[in-house]
Amino acid sequence: MALTGVLRPGHVALRVLEMGPALKHYVDVLGLIEVARDKAGRVFLKAWDEHDHHSVVLREADEAGMDYMGWRVDSPATLKKLAADIEKSGLASDLGWVPAGEHPATGERFRFTVATGHVMELFAEKDKLGNDCGTDGPDVNPHPWPDNLRGIAPSRFDHCLLYGDDLDGTVKLFREVLGFGLAEQVTAGPDGSLMIGAFLTCSNKPHDIALIRQPVKGKFHHASFILGSWEEVLKAGDILSRNKVSLDIGPTRHGITRGETIYFFDPSGNRNEVFAGGYIYYPDKPTITWTEQELGPAIFYHDRKLNERFLQVFT
Ligand SMILES: [Fe+2]
Repeated sequence: MALTGVLRPGHVALRVLEMGPALKHYVDVLGLIEVARDKAGRVFLKAWDEHDHHSVVLREADEAGMDYMGWRVDSPATLKKLAADIEKSGLASDLGWVPAGEHPATGERFRFTVATGHVMELFAEKDKLGNDCGTDGPDVNPHPWPDNLRGIAPSRFDHCLLYGDDLDGTVKLFREVLGFGLAEQVTAGPDGSLMIGAFLTCSNKPHDIALIRQPVKGKFHHASFILGSWEEVLKAGDILSRNKVSLDIGPTRHGITRGETIYFFDPSGNRNEVFAGGYIYYPDKPTITWTEQELGPAIFYHDRKLNERFLQVFT
């Protein structure tokens, strides 16, 4: 197996103000599939092509935002090793284990807080539900997509973009302890030495997590879900309009990662993205640098400028 260690973003846990409207959004409009609820009222969802039990967790709270983001690692042995490495690095705080079963169908999770104030988790075990495409068994002779998809229907949860202050500390942990690559960065300052944006990958994708430097702790900008084509991004725009969903921007293209994108808000104000495209990342690919002066086209390549909401609206 060439892809080892941290495999992918495994789940994102979001706070919503009211579960009813949230589920109408995440299930009927975005098109995620509800797989479980627990006694605490949390709802667990997955995108159709994810085999793992769930990738999105919603809980009702007084304030929107992200509780934590979870990362799937390749084995229980890797989970133990990375937990020890994180502890040894001194780059995270509030370290601890969440027992198996606290998330349904999921093994124990190692939880820690990174320098930007975001809570992260690693886990190695989550039951496989499959993608409902098989014709002669769960993974035998599959169709290309399942019946009964609803709404936008992205195939997977892809990444989060987060806002926080100590970008250097978080990037150091992801790169040096968890083995992520820096696919792209945005730099500022007189000598370009201040990193204000980091796009990190643990895989072949242009990013699995992105961070923007802002004078805040633990803030959430968006959770993103992947579509198959630019045409599907346009159709997502149609579905969002039909359902009168609050739109942020798009459809347009990012300079960074080259993704074709549309940003919108759930009823609680959490930003979502669906996107397509991008490039294939390999660990020996040089890091792409965007200078602060070109931040506009880096984020929104067509408009060549940020909309006010990109920097000012987050949860
Ligand atoms: Fe994104």
